[in-house]
Amino acid sequence: MIQEPVHGAPPDDRHAFWNQFYASSAGSWQLSLPSQFAAFVANEIDRQAHVVDIGCGNARDSFFFARHGFKVTGLDASEAAVALARKHAEIQGGGDVEFFRTNLQDDQVQRVLSNRRAKAVCVYARFFLHAITEDEEDALIDALHNGCEPGDIVAFEYRTLADQETRKVAAPHFRRYLTSEELDKKMEQRHFLKRYGIEGVGFAKYKSEDAVVARTIYERQE
Ligand SMILES: C[S@@+](CC[C@H](N)C(=O)[O-])C[C@H]1O[C@@H](n2cnc3c(N)ncnc32)[C@H](O)[C@@H]1O
Repeated sequence: MIQEPVHGAPPDDRHAFWNQFYASSAGSWQLSLPSQFAAFVANEIDRQAHVVDIGCGNARDSFFFARHGFKVTGLDASEAAVALARKHAEIQGGGDVEFFRTNLQDDQVQRVLSNRRAKAVCVYARFFLHAITEDEEDALIDALHNGCEPGDIVAFEYRTLADQETRKVAAPHFRRYLTSEELDKKMEQRHFLKRYGIEGVGFAKYKSEDAVVARTIYERQE
C-alpha cells in the first residue's frame, strides 16, 4: 500500500477552513465559470441525467449542469458553502437544483441516490477525493455501492501523487494525493467498471498552477 503524503491543515481543521473560505467569498459566485471537468463530463452523460455533485463547494459546476438542463443535487460539508449555493439559487434561479449538507458519515449520499430524480444518475466529484480522508473516501465508495444502480456513472477528478511537489497557488488546505491504481481497485471491488481514465497536466489549470490530476469515469455494473 503506497503511503499517501498529506499537505496543508490536518483533518480536524478542515471544517473550519472551508466554512471560513466560503463565508469570506460570499458574492464571488456571480462571475464564476464552470471547471473544464464539468464541461467534459456534461458531454459524456445522458442529457436527462440527475447529477449529484459531491463536495460542490461554491457550486459553480452544479449551476453549470443545472443551466444545461440536468437535474442537480449539490452536497457539501460546509454550512457556508450550502448557504451560499442556496442563496445563489434563490436570487438567480438557475435550473432544477437543490443543496444539502453531508459529511459522508451520515446517510445523505445514499438517500439522494435512492430518491433519484431521473433514470440516469451521474455522481460527480471534482477536487474532492484529495480533500477528504481515506476513511471518508471508503464511506463514499460504500454509499455509491449501496445507492447506485446498473448504468449509473461516477466521474472523479483529483490530484495524484505526481502533484505533491508542484507549486500551488490555490489556498493551502488538507490534501491527500491519490493513485488511480488504488482507486480503480477499490471501485472495481464495488462493481464499478472504469470506462475512461487519463492523468496529466493541462486539465485543471488555475492561474499559474497546472495541477497533475486524474480524471476517471466509472459505470456501475450489475
Ligand atoms: C477543493 S473543494 C472542491 C469544490 C468544488 N468541487 C470545485 O471543484 O471547485 C473541496 C470541497 O469538499 C468539501 N468537503 C470536505 N470534506 C468533506 C466531507 N467530509 N463531506 C462533504 N464535503 C466535504 C469542502 O467543504 C469543499 O467545498
